[in-house]
Amino acid sequence: TGMVTYDPGFMNTAACRSAITYIDGDAGILRYRGYPIEQLAESSSYLETGYLLSHGELPTAEEALEWEDRILRHTHVHDDYQRLISSFPREAHPMAILSSAVAAMPGHYHEVFDITSAEQMDLATVLLLAKAPTLMAYALRHARHQDKPDVAPEIGYVADMLRLSVGPHRRWEPDPAMVRALDVLLLLHADHEQNCSTSTVRNVGSAGANLFLSVSAGISALAGPKHGGANEAVLAMLEEIRDSGVAVSEFMTKVKDKSSGARLMGFGHRVYKNYDPRAAIVKKLADEVLSSMGKRDELLDIAMELEGIALADDYFVERKLYPNVDFYTGLIYRAMGFPTSMFTPLFAIGRMPGWIAQWREMMQDPSTKIARPRQVYTGPLERDFVPVQDRP
Ligand code: CMC
Repeated sequence: TGMVTYDPGFMNTAACRSAITYIDGDAGILRYRGYPIEQLAESSSYLETGYLLSHGELPTAEEALEWEDRILRHTHVHDDYQRLISSFPREAHPMAILSSAVAAMPGHYHEVFDITSAEQMDLATVLLLAKAPTLMAYALRHARHQDKPDVAPEIGYVADMLRLSVGPHRRWEPDPAMVRALDVLLLLHADHEQNCSTSTVRNVGSAGANLFLSVSAGISALAGPKHGGANEAVLAMLEEIRDSGVAVSEFMTKVKDKSSGARLMGFGHRVYKNYDPRAAIVKKLADEVLSSMGKRDELLDIAMELEGIALADDYFVERKLYPNVDFYTGLIYRAMGFPTSMFTPLFAIGRMPGWIAQWREMMQDPSTKIARPRQVYTGPLERDFVPVQDRP
């Protein structure tokens, strides 16, 4: 046996080469294909950024139209998926439904598995981006005992995602400011290099599993509370502060007392030791969206007060703890009418382009090998088998 390096959590191991996303955690920098996240959030859209991530370049005007048009032509899902979703208990977590539905997709689409064909890979990409939001929306409507209206692609990709999920009736069309806000939130989640779910997608794909099965595994990884589930936890924390009537400063004292076990949810990050650049954009968006909707949210006031205290407090300053992307997103989702159980599925829809782009990059990379880490064995060395009658 050769030398192996023990590196739990792969804190210090690069498992791939990637040209997709650049993060400098100390400086608080995030770029997709070289473009600063701030510029993309200002001027691009989720679908255009999805194209950028998987194709490496921004689309021309013509390519952008064709891309969006292709995706919109596929947003309808087959009745089989409605039945699949309806077969789940109403209480089932929507992440479980989403993961199962995506895992079912290879059964319906047969011409998309040849990784040497750019055409087939593009079609697989289009199918996933098109159908995932419809599946998410139907999962939500199932939980709420609501019917599942058919798609209305003519109103636009993000608008229809909103209509399908939280629309009070078939003809409802969301406010353009709300559509733009959701578009930006999805874009901000589109990729984050080798995070837990993306590494999972690569690991599964490295065995030769198809894109749908690989992404289904990524959705499962994202369901974990340490990963995609934090946005739900932030909202629960803000509500707890509001309902208990505890002063924000008092809550902060509890957070700083390690023995309480409480953490300031939505704060801190493994890579960012500076303000998460996405959080800065989401904070501004939360303020704009909530005031434009006339929803002055007391939870937003609590969140801003928490942030203000934390950024001026030695405990947080010394440990370089800043708000992360999850700190303000839930407030916006909630104002849009999403229940907290849908926050992580929305993260999954957002992350879809990144999972796809990373999977495709890996499949094109001749240096890719099946993911197969080594271990440090700590069990007994050789011993003789004991027949059951001779065991104590
Ligand atoms: N509140 C209070 N103290 C904290 C917090 C927090 N949110 N985060 C870290 N600390 C303290 C921690 O107690 C430790 O203190 P000390 O050095 O005295 O023992 C120090 O800061 C370093 O923390 P760590 O847990 O060793 O850092 P990590 O890199 O392993 O953890 C983290 C990163 C994101 C898991 C953690 O900051 C955390 O639990 N944050 C709250 C949950 C959260 O918001 N998660 C979303 C992450 S971003 C989106 C995503 O990935 O899905």
